[in-house]
Amino acid sequence: MEYKRTLITAALPYANGPVHIGHLAGVYVPADIYARYLRLKGQQVLFVCGSDEHGVPVTIRARKEGITTQQVVDRYHGIIKQAFADFGISFDIYSRTTSAVHHQFASDYFRKLYDEGKFVEQTTEQFYDPETGHFLTDRNIRGECPHCHNLGAYGDQCEKCGSTLSPEELINPYNAETGNPLVKKPTSHWYLPLDQYQQWLEHWILDEHKEWRPNVYGQCKSWLDGGLRPRAVTRDLDWGIPVPVEGAEGKVLYVWFDAPIGYISNTKELCDAQPDKYGTWQMWWKDQATRLIHFIGKDNIVFHCIVFPAMLKADGSYILPDNVPSNEFLNLEGDKISTSRNWAVWLNEYLDDFPGKQDVLRYVLTANAPETKDNDFTWADFQARNNNELVAIYGNFINRALVLTGKYFDGKVPAQGVLTDYDRQTIDEFCNVKGELEKLLNDFRFRDAQKEAMNLARIGNKYLADTEPWKLAKTDMPRTATILNLSLQIAANLAIAFEPFLPFSSAKLRDMLGLEAFSWENLGSTGLLTEGHSLGEVSLLFEKIDDAPVQAQLDRLARIKAENEAEAKAEALKNWQPVPVKTPTTIDDFDKVDIRVGTVMECGPVKKSDRLLLFRIDDGMGGRTILSGIAQSYPDPSVLVGKQVLFVANFPPRKMMGLESQGMILSAVDADGKLVVTTVTSPVRNGAQVG
Ligand code: 2FM
Ligand code: ZN
Repeated sequence: MEYKRTLITAALPYANGPVHIGHLAGVYVPADIYARYLRLKGQQVLFVCGSDEHGVPVTIRARKEGITTQQVVDRYHGIIKQAFADFGISFDIYSRTTSAVHHQFASDYFRKLYDEGKFVEQTTEQFYDPETGHFLTDRNIRGECPHCHNLGAYGDQCEKCGSTLSPEELINPYNAETGNPLVKKPTSHWYLPLDQYQQWLEHWILDEHKEWRPNVYGQCKSWLDGGLRPRAVTRDLDWGIPVPVEGAEGKVLYVWFDAPIGYISNTKELCDAQPDKYGTWQMWWKDQATRLIHFIGKDNIVFHCIVFPAMLKADGSYILPDNVPSNEFLNLEGDKISTSRNWAVWLNEYLDDFPGKQDVLRYVLTANAPETKDNDFTWADFQARNNNELVAIYGNFINRALVLTGKYFDGKVPAQGVLTDYDRQTIDEFCNVKGELEKLLNDFRFRDAQKEAMNLARIGNKYLADTEPWKLAKTDMPRTATILNLSLQIAANLAIAFEPFLPFSSAKLRDMLGLEAFSWENLGSTGLLTEGHSLGEVSLLFEKIDDAPVQAQLDRLARIKAENEAEAKAEALKNWQPVPVKTPTTIDDFDKVDIRVGTVMECGPVKKSDRLLLFRIDDGMGGRTILSGIAQSYPDPSVLVGKQVLFVANFPPRKMMGLESQGMILSAVDADGKLVVTTVTSPVRNGAQVG
């Protein structure tokens, strides 16, 4: 199929918080690189996004902050939109799902499928709060975990023991926000019968899209292998797009039904406003000559590869995605990025701390793009990539080429003159970069593509280092001219090659070179700058980043980690309940265990074990050694030295890690799972018996 245009979508971010580096690395930078690349090639492109403003999380946030849901989405829509603009994400439109256009469009979309009998209606029993008159979503239900008896488990998961739950399993379920007890009440909803699309999806994905990334293809396959079931497309909620059916009061479209339709409604909003520039929305969504590409994160795969295509197919008049290049996740300093735990680098805050350094973050995020597996962002790597790559390779080459031209040729492009074999060899090398870059970009391999662009700068650096024009300038001006001419041509090539990745630096470099316009086709040319052409003002393309601002970021994260730990501990304490008392026993059984008092003389780690601590105890009977599995609870075991503790004196000796343990130290389990050694507060003779 000969495609005429490409429609690029980037997942609509939830307007329940600002966007962070994980969003940028996973979705928006790769989508932007692709859009910029195709535009540079002169292709017809539309790049569409907007805020996802429905769903439960925004309503929870509103209640927490004591403001209206509309105020929440207005605030975050503004912040998110600004952050994307600041980072040069070149959307043709960034709209929102609370727009009138979207509400009408999504409502009509549902109504058409409803009228055509594409949904099935089902009645089920759901948890209901009779006090507030609301049905509750899984996350809004709490209760006692049937496994560990944590009283604050959620309707979808117990965060204490990690079990996945359904609200039905909770003992005494209650409304998480009001604490009211819940009852079951029947409610009816409309379902998209995905089971009816199973066969078609299997063929379309598994046979016709074998080229999709292995992580995307694999996830689709496992969903399909598991067998698809009907999915509800409506919810009992008072925030969202009302279900346009009589008698459906109090029900709205499920957020995952309306959000992907946002791609279409946002296109419509743009095309209707500027038809001469963008054409019709139907051209983008209904003409088979349009290629549709969805950029998303891995948690969105099922919705974009299975549910949304089934919705498009149910309508029947739309094109389907050609590819869904989904990324895995980016971690931060080894831990999962989390909005609720504030474990993130927020884009708006980054720009406050590193003003003007948008491209540095874009570069580092692409260099670590989680394309095939989860990846980690660290501030040390951020600093190293800036200083050792952007500054030392790319920036250094540009600076040398421009400064030397200023010095020897008064800032004017010198004559190319006669090329040597070495010059030709260098030209061949950088011409090859174009083909390689294209191959990688067409394949959505942005990380390798950026590496390839950096190789072009390496070629330039090597050329200058090998030819040493600063030495030749004393003896051979024509040769110096040739070298600097070629160097400037490489610099111009770099501005083109890096434009999709580092648009701000490319614009700056273009100004420094006085280059009017360029296109992808110019890449590989040695005639981009003509002899005598005046260069613009020269300044540094990138600047070194010192240790201090990097340390400030690490300090901030350390503070957040400590706060989170304290909060988790407080939460655990709040929900703590003693474990049930063991089955009854007699004093005779207890008497068999000989518990004594002893003083800890030494306490330290055991080699090769991160669990055990070794105690030397003065037991009043000549001393003994005891190993205890409490190392995780005592990062500094020396705090126990000098303390009088309780130990079991009559267990048979046991070998652990090649050492003999002669007893057991008694400790209590705290609410957060930490072990606390029980100590004696008024001095007792060592060896005294407890009973
Ligand atoms: O996961 C998310 O952030 C969703 N808001 C993505 C929606 S993508 C599309 F369907 F709109
Ligand atoms: Zn549990």
